[in-house]
Amino acid sequence: MIEKIEELLVEVNAFQSQNKDEIEQFRIKFNGKKGILKDFFEKFKEVPNEQKKDFGQKINSLRQAVEAKLEALKEAISSNIILEKEDLTKPAFPLEMGSRHPINLVRSRIIEIFKSIGFAVADGPEIEDDWHNFTALNLPEYHPARDMQDTFFIEQNPDVLLRTHTSSVQIRYMEENEPPIRILSPGRVFRNEAVSSRSHCIFHQIEGLYIDENVSFADLKQTIQFFTTELFGKSKIRMRPSYFPFTEPSAEVDVYWGLNSETDYRITKGTGWLEIMGCGMVDPAVLKNVNIDADKYSGYAFGMGIERIVMLLYQMSDIRMFFENDKRMLQQFGHL
Ligand code: DAH
Repeated sequence: MIEKIEELLVEVNAFQSQNKDEIEQFRIKFNGKKGILKDFFEKFKEVPNEQKKDFGQKINSLRQAVEAKLEALKEAISSNIILEKEDLTKPAFPLEMGSRHPINLVRSRIIEIFKSIGFAVADGPEIEDDWHNFTALNLPEYHPARDMQDTFFIEQNPDVLLRTHTSSVQIRYMEENEPPIRILSPGRVFRNEAVSSRSHCIFHQIEGLYIDENVSFADLKQTIQFFTTELFGKSKIRMRPSYFPFTEPSAEVDVYWGLNSETDYRITKGTGWLEIMGCGMVDPAVLKNVNIDADKYSGYAFGMGIERIVMLLYQMSDIRMFFENDKRMLQQFGHL
């Protein structure tokens, strides 16, 4: 019987195959429920005691050889499968081309336009305190104008909130820098508004601020006119009196879009005019809040929503599309 085991040991060690079925046959033959090893272990009981030790060692070495062989064959086969499937000369992944989000495209374009006339980009936090978002901007507690911006509060007393506009960056920048100041600050803002095709609780704004000696309303108007001409190719603008607590006087800017097509009628509600931003001369009270000498310096500020402008430029009708990350929408945008 020992001889028989030795023969089998040679057979096991010599066995080679890359064929799954053959390997499975081999496994069943030796390791299966009715396999050779099982059979030997059964016979072990009948072996006379003095031979048990020798016999036991032999069966064990046969069992180990079978297991080692099966392991080695399995490994060889699985690495072969990978090699067979993959053409190693192919590029690693089929990388899809991305495209820039329309909001980013328009934001970059607006920044480019203002950079060309000397504006730098300044950043501020999305989580703000009451001082930077309201009080320093001349919106004291209980001022009714606070109601215009329905706020998401994170904590109260002292108030921590999601900024409702990018005007907060004006305060942050003026606290840290001396005039002359010429900045643009783009960013996300948040308001507790019902989501619809025209308004969202998250949107983007771009704020502008210019502080220097002898800055006048004429400078503001010229700058905005330059901007609308560059961005829309439209130079006819009008400024309507308005109210913002942080500017005095304040105005809304309309661009004359024209009434050449049916779309023009629809988007301008038949007037030909489109409102694009709020602006005004920085209120001296704001300058005082950030320790800038209001007798020496003056300046203007403006703020606009990016989504509205993107919707205009690309004729999109639903603001919710910007936040859905639908690839079919995003893939339509390359470069502006
Ligand atoms: N912060 C205003 C808003 O969100 C927009 C605005 C109006 C910004 C006039 C300004 C400004 O800087 O001068 O409605």
